[in-house]
Amino acid sequence: MTGGAPIPPGLHVPGPTPLHPEVAAAMAQPLISYRGPEARALLGRIAQGFCDFLGTELQPVLLTASGTGAMEATLANLLSPGDPVLGIGGGQFAERFLGVAEAFGLETRSLDTPWGRAVAPERLRVALRTGPETRAVLLTHSETSTGVLHPLPELVRVVREESDALVLVDAVSSLGGMPLAVDSCDAVFTASQKAWGLPPGMAMVWTSERAAAAERSARLPRYYWSFSRYRDALARGLMPFTPAVPVLFAMEAGLGLMLREGRDAVFRRHAEAAAAARGRLQAMGLRLVADEESASNTVTAAWLPSGVAWPELTRALQQRHGIVLAGGLGQLQGKILRLGHLGWTRARDVHRAADALESCLRGT
Ligand SMILES: Cc1ncc(COP(=O)(O)O)c(C=O)c1O
Repeated sequence: MTGGAPIPPGLHVPGPTPLHPEVAAAMAQPLISYRGPEARALLGRIAQGFCDFLGTELQPVLLTASGTGAMEATLANLLSPGDPVLGIGGGQFAERFLGVAEAFGLETRSLDTPWGRAVAPERLRVALRTGPETRAVLLTHSETSTGVLHPLPELVRVVREESDALVLVDAVSSLGGMPLAVDSCDAVFTASQKAWGLPPGMAMVWTSERAAAAERSARLPRYYWSFSRYRDALARGLMPFTPAVPVLFAMEAGLGLMLREGRDAVFRRHAEAAAAARGRLQAMGLRLVADEESASNTVTAAWLPSGVAWPELTRALQQRHGIVLAGGLGQLQGKILRLGHLGWTRARDVHRAADALESCLRGT
């Protein structure tokens, strides 16, 4: 979306995002049977839209789930009980990935990373060389809890050089808003409510040929999450279980808008919004959590100034300006604020949120 009115004031969290009017209108279409010819055609257009936008021939598995569902599904489809996996830590969502792995009885190891720092690829190399054999490496691309973008291409290269491990990537808050070579990984998952600018409700997963082989021998139990059920059904233009049909309508509309805007323009818009966020927060005297060179283009986190309490700040922002920012998660709760700039957001929307924040911090 390049022209038109700015998004209405309101949500500036790192997903869900405000909806584009065409996306919102698409959701209001009359429901269709998810087993009929219309659904078959719709699923075909959606799958093609993702292929075109991402520049891949891999077909997405469309799960009726949030991002965590896709995270769980990825592990359940590709691994067996007791498989050793290595995660990167460094934030709420990387820790969640390891937590889900643990819940599934995998042997987890974490490359302890301070929250707010990107993982240095050489540290991953050492961990792979010196540790026990690793079946899968769990990577988070954009760590939404800190605003850090981990150096995914370099991390993937290190895994390929040092091991036969599968590379499983949480791209929940990056895919669609920043470049990511889906084909270079073994599994990549994302969720509708993030950079895709859609309502919550659907998660998308892409898996490689290698992952397909792993899937055939993987022994963790799965039924609702079984990728092969989704793939077999999709080949017949079907979904195995009732999908969130209005979100699929929204998805077709959103992908159409993104394709019309063009992939590079979408990424540039996210980069411009991110630059605006970083510039404005720093100009207010706030210190950013992520270093400039590892800052995500979809979310920016900043330390709260001393003496500023998050509950009061968020209340003032909402009551006086109708602006919703996100607070800190986990160990950063009460210590940081997070400004989301993804989906249809543009730099000028970020400026409006920043104006409100500035006015609240000044106490006016
Ligand atoms: C990087 C990342 N991974 C996973 C999740 C979990 O997604 P969901 O809340 O859709 O389950 C989120 C949500 O913010 C996220 O940002």
